[in-house]
Amino acid sequence: MDQTFTHTAWSSNGIYLGKWSCLDSSVHTGSNAGISPSNKDEETAETDGGGWQGISKATAEKLHILYGGIGPVIIPEAFAGQKDSSTSKGGQSVVERSAKSSNIEEELSNKPEQIHLAYGENPSEMVVMWSTGLAGLTEVRYGLLENNLNMSTKGEHVIFTERNSEGVKFVHRVKLANLLPGTQYYYLVKTNDQESEILHFTTMKDGTNWSPTIIMFGDMGTRGGSPSLRILNKAALSQSVDAIIHTGDFAYDLHEEGGKVGDDFMNRIQYAASRLPYMTCVGNHEIAWDTFSHYRYRFSMPGVAWPTPVDRLFYSFDMGPVHFISYSTEVHFAREGRDIAKQLAWLQEDLQEANTNRNNRPWVIAFGHRPMYCSNNDRDDCTKEDSKVRQGFEKLFYDEGVDIIVEAHEHSYERFWPMYGGEVTQRNYTTLGLRCTSSAVLQGVTSLTRSALIQYSDQR
Ligand SMILES: [Fe+2]
Repeated sequence: MDQTFTHTAWSSNGIYLGKWSCLDSSVHTGSNAGISPSNKDEETAETDGGGWQGISKATAEKLHILYGGIGPVIIPEAFAGQKDSSTSKGGQSVVERSAKSSNIEEELSNKPEQIHLAYGENPSEMVVMWSTGLAGLTEVRYGLLENNLNMSTKGEHVIFTERNSEGVKFVHRVKLANLLPGTQYYYLVKTNDQESEILHFTTMKDGTNWSPTIIMFGDMGTRGGSPSLRILNKAALSQSVDAIIHTGDFAYDLHEEGGKVGDDFMNRIQYAASRLPYMTCVGNHEIAWDTFSHYRYRFSMPGVAWPTPVDRLFYSFDMGPVHFISYSTEVHFAREGRDIAKQLAWLQEDLQEANTNRNNRPWVIAFGHRPMYCSNNDRDDCTKEDSKVRQGFEKLFYDEGVDIIVEAHEHSYERFWPMYGGEVTQRNYTTLGLRCTSSAVLQGVTSLTRSALIQYSDQR
């Protein structure tokens, strides 16, 4: 059963601050699928949520492959008239390709596919990405009217071959700048003479005095159907949310079948991701031989070079009254831990800067993939006393007053009372210093309360 949870957030003195919509998947599976070879020892490898106890590993793997945390097949109403294929495409311009096909003509094509958006560095920017089988001029044409795409911005493209032997090779990126905040734009992407259909997005509103509506979820695969995808598509169709945040684990896996699974996944989310910014963090299924290559090439996040450097899988962005932080829990499980210190230093600096602006932007929400806490019994990191994720992040997030932490990976829904050091610190979400928790397929763990928040509350 999947549901949407809308979390309404209030400040401690009753000021409405925002709402977040979350998806809750009750699919519980356990699998090592997608763990990179360097991490494949069954005794030590992290699994993705073993919420179902008493089933064999083989059965768990089958369930994981079939559902991947996304549930049974439901064709979105908006696409009921379209042919349902294994590619599950949403946009009309998507090149049809199954993960197991190898049609040379399709692959050697300039037809844009896998179109998706992300926020840029401020409300006046939007990043547009897509892929093509051949190299070519990278361009986005856009405008305020559907029949008058009177502006154009050129961008860059790279050839993507790292662990992508069978996938579409050229990835394009254009950053649109000087856009009007809170404004709908129509656009198409173009590589040489091949254009996409006309799409549209709405830029982020300016300022802090508004309430973002966001869909947050984690762990979505390519195979099977998807109530979650249906919700994303509906939200894109109705423009009822501002953005999507996918908290790690994509496609199961982006690099599978030489990258074709990744291509299919990106096409699968295209309808939603080409109309709503699709913000991400990295999960264990993106590790892929310690390269994270598919995540690094396929997504471009604010304030970070692209293709994303392998040691820079974290970023932050502001949205209305919220400072969002995307961090990598995978620094503790990949590349022999050599990115831990760099990320920690960045997090400290980013949080301290955010805290200087709490009067204006009171919320700090962090999202990463693996949780600090869980009540499952599946040997995952979150079940352990010496959890690497908890040891790696909890104190910093607590000390710096992070309000909400949203996590995924366990394929089960849990929402925690505020916790610190393994203890519940209070049994409500409304006491001074607390805001609320939110979660999705995910975990919502709040660790918090500190002087900056108290001061903010007092001042209000
Ligand atoms: Fe995971």
